[in-house]
Amino acid sequence: MAQIIDGKGISAEIRLKLHQEVIDFVSSGNPVPHLTAVIVGEDPASQTYVKNKILACKEVGISSETKLLPASTTQEELLQLIGQLNRDDCVSGVLVQLPVPDHINERTICNAVAPEKDVDGFNEINMGRLALDMDGFVPATPLGIKALLEHCNIATHGRNAVVVGRSKNVSLPLAILMHSDGKNATKALDATVTICHRYTPPKELAKHCRQADIIVVAVGKPGLITKDMIKPGACVIDVGINRIKDEKTGKHKLVGDVDFEEVRQVAGHISPVPGGVGPMTVTMLMHNTLQAAKKQAASRRV
Ligand SMILES: NC(=O)c1ccc[n+]([C@@H]2O[C@H](COP(=O)([O-])OP(=O)(O)OC[C@H]3O[C@@H](n4cnc5c(N)ncnc54)[C@H](O)[C@@H]3O)[C@@H](O)[C@H]2O)c1
Repeated sequence: MAQIIDGKGISAEIRLKLHQEVIDFVSSGNPVPHLTAVIVGEDPASQTYVKNKILACKEVGISSETKLLPASTTQEELLQLIGQLNRDDCVSGVLVQLPVPDHINERTICNAVAPEKDVDGFNEINMGRLALDMDGFVPATPLGIKALLEHCNIATHGRNAVVVGRSKNVSLPLAILMHSDGKNATKALDATVTICHRYTPPKELAKHCRQADIIVVAVGKPGLITKDMIKPGACVIDVGINRIKDEKTGKHKLVGDVDFEEVRQVAGHISPVPGGVGPMTVTMLMHNTLQAAKKQAASRRV
């Protein structure tokens, strides 16, 4: 039976450390780190995600605010607000909750957030820096997955890893972080990485997964990864979040992309949904916000 990776517990430990770091930072005469979250429109999932981020801010001592904008907000108006937040010295980190409404170009918005306040790591400068193994902001979900692997002492150096999914916000930065050189600034994981995506034929997906010592799945399809696709003892990280109806209770519940009950019988480690990657994502956003505040304080001192 696989060891369950307790993302909730690991995340709570990291938040305690972050809280102490914030206290130390502020007691050395620095301003309280501050995160501003922007939501455009009334998507209930976005509101829940941002609410969780704001609660985490409170937990670690970061001040925060949410700017709720109507769905009719124009791209120009949103760019103006981002410009104001970029110039505001009281704001350490800015995040625009995705998705934005269709009439707004997501890439234009991500690129408008100042790289030094881009705690989501979605700006092209930070993505480029990650690709070049340079210091910058790494998106929170990949950073959280790296922290989970490290916390559980999962060997990655020279091991085979499969990343299922190729999204620009999760899977691509994760694949970069998993294969890059651990000696450089991003302290990456030195694995041999294969990326599978929607055009990988199912037989090929299964073949690649069976070779993998580490499988990370970020697709959004319940039951995509089954027991027969797992090398015995492999580490399986499930990023997927799917809301499905429980046939037994008739109630809705959250599941990942992995057939958890079956896969846990052969895997060495497995992250559950909920309680695996999700809490780590929010925690690493807190980490990035504190880092942003520290870097800004240092650059003001120069
Ligand atoms: N736990 C967290 O913190 C967290 C954070 C972000 C996203 N998510 C969840 O992760 C999942 C993926 O989100 P995303 O934004 O990375 O991706 P996305 O929704 O942008 O894209 C899905 C990816 O899956 C790939 N894909 C689709 N069908 C496939 C198949 N049959 N085989 C292999 N690959 C296939 C596509 O090529 C695409 O790259 C979603 O369920 C999302 O809710 C969780």
